[in-house]
Amino acid sequence: MNSLEDPRIAAVLDDLHRAARRDTRVFLRALPSVAAGLLRGRGVVDSAKPHLRDAFIPIDAAQGRVLYQLARAQGARRIVEFGASFGISTIYLAAAVRDNGGGCVVTTELEPGKVAGAQANYRRAGVEAEIELRAGDALETLRRIDGPIDILFLDGWKEACLPVLRLLEPHLLRGSCVLCDDTKPFRRTLKPYLDHVRGNPGRYVSLELPLGDGLEFSVVV
Ligand SMILES: C[S@@+](CC[C@H](N)C(=O)[O-])C[C@H]1O[C@@H](n2cnc3c(N)ncnc32)[C@H](O)[C@@H]1O
Repeated sequence: MNSLEDPRIAAVLDDLHRAARRDTRVFLRALPSVAAGLLRGRGVVDSAKPHLRDAFIPIDAAQGRVLYQLARAQGARRIVEFGASFGISTIYLAAAVRDNGGGCVVTTELEPGKVAGAQANYRRAGVEAEIELRAGDALETLRRIDGPIDILFLDGWKEACLPVLRLLEPHLLRGSCVLCDDTKPFRRTLKPYLDHVRGNPGRYVSLELPLGDGLEFSVVV
């Protein structure tokens, strides 16, 4: 069984990836604010944030398939995601959980408009039963997780990736996988995170996969 071939899921993913290509316009609109912010010493994401409320900024289809395949290989039943946006990555993960025999993807999103959009997309894809979407700041919404996490996918704003990882570390067991997206453009912001997963060889083995804008893949050992 491979739910990525399910016509309903495939059609929704196709549709969402196509819609996400329009993000280029959002980034163009954000350019003047980013330039002004840089002159004032602000970070790119901080300056662009007001423009990103309706931007997907998603994983690409190859990353989605890798997440799906990893979750299948692992037989993942409990997955936690930081940063749902409009739900593209969650749908890949939920498809895997379903094909593994059931379970839950707990995901979280800060922007109310995206929360509503993601819920609608989960329903359209028919995967809402496998997803629990928690609205709000991940550092609050992910405080309660019932049991060990098989896969943790970190794709929210980059300065929060290490705090979210630290919050959830008590739920990571040997063999748990942690993935963090966008390592190339955010190498500086992610330095404390990358130092943590690469500098603790007794706890993690870790390397950057050349997928999308760089996907750090860490396994708890
Ligand atoms: C790169 S997008 C996520 C894309 C999504 N994973 C996908 O592939 O479709 C990052 C999202 O994280 C959300 N976010 C950022 N910081 C957050 C936080 N502290 N708590 C919850 N969501 C957050 C943003 O609003 C944004 O929608």
